Amino acid sequence: MEVIIKPDYQQMSAAAARQIADVLNRKPNAVLGMATGSTPLGLYRELVRLHREESLDFSQVTTFNLDEYVGLPVTHEQSYHYFMHENFFKHVNIPRQNIYIPSGTTSNFPSFCQWYEQRIQDCGGIDVQILGIGSDGHIAFNEPTSSLSSRTRLKTLAKPTIEDNARFFDNKEQVPIYAITMGVGTILEADEIVLLANGKNKAKAIAAAIEGPVTSMITASALQLHPDTRVYLDEDAAGQLQMREYYDWVLKMKPGAPKA
Ligand code: F6R
Repeated sequence: MEVIIKPDYQQMSAAAARQIADVLNRKPNAVLGMATGSTPLGLYRELVRLHREESLDFSQVTTFNLDEYVGLPVTHEQSYHYFMHENFFKHVNIPRQNIYIPSGTTSNFPSFCQWYEQRIQDCGGIDVQILGIGSDGHIAFNEPTSSLSSRTRLKTLAKPTIEDNARFFDNKEQVPIYAITMGVGTILEADEIVLLANGKNKAKAIAAAIEGPVTSMITASALQLHPDTRVYLDEDAAGQLQMREYYDWVLKMKPGAPKA
């Protein structure tokens, strides 16, 4: 795991966007795994800027989103379909037919989940997966005690997640209780993983995920088993890391790193 700590949200987002842009420049038909939530908004803004100002091309890209609420129509402002369209897809040139987001309104969840997993395989697997982290340490909607080899499935959300998400709805009663989500096992199969976190309310989960034991109680800790994960943090989210100095030292001493 590589831990990259930036002074603020903007610089954290720009550094993560640079990694995604490098993947696209190396492999223009890359398969990207997408996350929603407030964390990756800066990353998406930066990718849109690179598309507009530096001709970063998405015309051969395929995307798979991590998750979607069950029961919200795609036109609902809090659906992840709506979120992705508004914050990213409508601003770049990804062909419509290359965009995959789990269906929260399918009539057959088990067969949809199987189909989704198969589509990821048929597209060659995910080259780089973008992730945020919940304050309870979840990745996608893999809540505490999710199997670390879980696959795409229907999941009951934990109360802290429902409470975290309540800020986006008129009241807590409107927050969906179920989601369809890629599993931890699905995520771990991505070639590269980019985990982003900012703000003090993520500091505890980040310390547990990076420096704690691998445990289904913090599903992000399973990323310790992944060979190519980079974690991009702002100072606040890095606030509880014990090995902070080491992470900075590693980056400074990286072969090819510019001498300060
Ligand atoms: C969203 C997702 C979730 C969020 C997490 C953090 O697609 O998979 O795991 O990444 O809940 O959400 P924010 O970024 O809103 O704090």
